[in-house]
Parts: sequence; structure tokens; C-alpha cells
Amino acid sequence: MPSILITGANRGLGFGLAKLYVADGWRVFACCRNPDSASELSAVADASNGSMTLHTVDVEDHASIDSLAASLKDQPIDVLLNVAGYYGKIIVTDPGGLQEFGTSDYSEWDKTMRINVYGPMKMAEALIDNVIASDQKKLVTLSSVIGSIGGNNVGKIYPYRASKAAVNAIMKSMAVDFKEKGVTAIPMHPGWVRTEMGGPVADIDADTSTAGMKKVIDGLTLEDSGKYMVYDGSELPW
Ligand SMILES: NC(=O)c1ccc[n+]([C@@H]2O[C@H](COP(=O)([O-])OP(=O)(O)OC[C@H]3O[C@@H](n4cnc5c(N)ncnc54)[C@H](OP(=O)(O)O)[C@@H]3O)[C@@H](O)[C@H]2O)c1
Repeated sequence: MPSILITGANRGLGFGLAKLYVADGWRVFACCRNPDSASELSAVADASNGSMTLHTVDVEDHASIDSLAASLKDQPIDVLLNVAGYYGKIIVTDPGGLQEFGTSDYSEWDKTMRINVYGPMKMAEALIDNVIASDQKKLVTLSSVIGSIGGNNVGKIYPYRASKAAVNAIMKSMAVDFKEKGVTAIPMHPGWVRTEMGGPVADIDADTSTAGMKKVIDGLTLEDSGKYMVYDGSELPW
């Protein structure tokens, strides 16, 4: 039975992906900040005959990541999927949601970097041996088209854009560093999706995004390592 570990599994895209993988017969390590209040996720775990377990992980709290890694020592993880992410306000519809030049709130910027960049980095550093010990050896982080420097024709969105460009850079380095170990590492854009983060006017629903992402992840080979992929299987310019 292949296994996947997902951060931010309590709601949004992480929850959708967790449901899809458990339905497909995978062993799912579903991580979130507060499992006790994750009632929908708990219901899925309860109905999973032990295939899904819940784990307390706040990606800003590196001690919680170290505890997770200790509890999963020697457990192969086929896919390490970093989904937990932070934008702050809702893009487009919230006042200030476009994060324009001259409006930087540097404590918000710090938080964005801690969650979107240091979180996936620390998760990978803590769990890389589990991934290397698995059959599929896949390391996937949800990035965003907003992290594309080559594709940036609209400006604005300073902190979130910087965080996703940074996470792209670290995923590319992991692709290079772990290729010899057979690890496939990619950042992936889930589309602009109607979740709490994406807001109500986003392009696609969560089911379309999660089904597409699962298909892409299932089909990844080592040749794909270091690509900047989209939920529909296409690629983005860095
Ligand atoms: N939705 C879009 O249109 C879109 C577009 C491009 C990229 N993305 C990326 O896709 C990913 C998922 O987005 P989403 O739309 O599902 O967002 P969402 O609905 O806002 O959900 C965010 C998830 O991240 C978790 N999270 C936030 N801070 C955390 C922390 N410190 N530790 C652990 N978990 C934390 C949240 O948990 P709590 O409930 O505890 O807050 C929640 O589970 C993010 O990385 C996002 O940047 C989304």
C-alpha cells in the first residue's frame, strides 16, 4: 500500500487530496495544526479502517515537525506533499488583497515566509530519509503561478509572490540534490481555486484541482524532477 503525508490536510486543497488518496487505497498521514477541531478530516479517518491517521503539525513550529519525524522513524513515505500555505487576505476581493507596493506589513511577510518557505524546507529536511526509503520517492510542494518570475506580467503581490518564487527555488535544488537517490521533487500550481484562500471568484473548484493534481503526482517519473508543474499536467516558466 503506497503512503502519502499531507500538510494542511484539515481544509481546502489538503483536505480534498487527503480524501482522494484514502479513497484510492493509500496509507495517508494527514497533518494539521488542530486535529481535535478537524471534524471533517476526523470523520474521513474514522471511516478509513486505519488507512488515515491524524498528526499534529504546525509548519511554523519546527519542534512539531521533529516530533512527527520521530514518530514516523523508519516509515517509508512515497509522497511528501506540502500543501499548508498562507496568503493573508483574499486576493482581488479583499481590500489590500493585492499586496501592492507601499503597503508591506513585514510581520505578515515574515509569517508568509515561515509557512510557505521554511515549512516545506523543514518538512523535507525532517522526512527526506522516509521518502528515500519508499518505492515512489516523490517530494511535491504546492506553489503558485504567482511564484513564476518569467510569467509575471501583472506585478503586485509582493510577499506571497516572493514566498512562492523562493519555494520554487528550494524545490529545484532538492530535485538536483536528490536525483541520484531517485527522488522526484517538483513545485506545483493547483490552479486558481475556490477555497478559503482562493476566494469565491477563482477559476476552478477544489475537486477539479485535486483530481488534476493527483493525476499529475501519480504519473510523475524521475524525468519530471525539477519541473514547475500545473494541476492540468502543463508546465510553467520559472
Ligand atoms: N486556492 C488557490 O487558488 C491557490 C492558488 C495557488 C496556490 N495555492 C496554494 O495551495 C495550497 C493550499 O491552498 P488552499 O487554497 O487549500 O488554502 P486554504 O483553504 O487557505 O487552506 C490553507 C491550509 O493551510 C493550513 N495552514 C496554514 N498555516 C499553517 C501552519 N502554520 N501549519 C500547518 N498548516 C497551516 C491551514 O490550516 P488551518 O485551518 O489550521 O489554518 C489550511 O489547512 C497553499 O500552499 C496555497 O498557497 C492555492
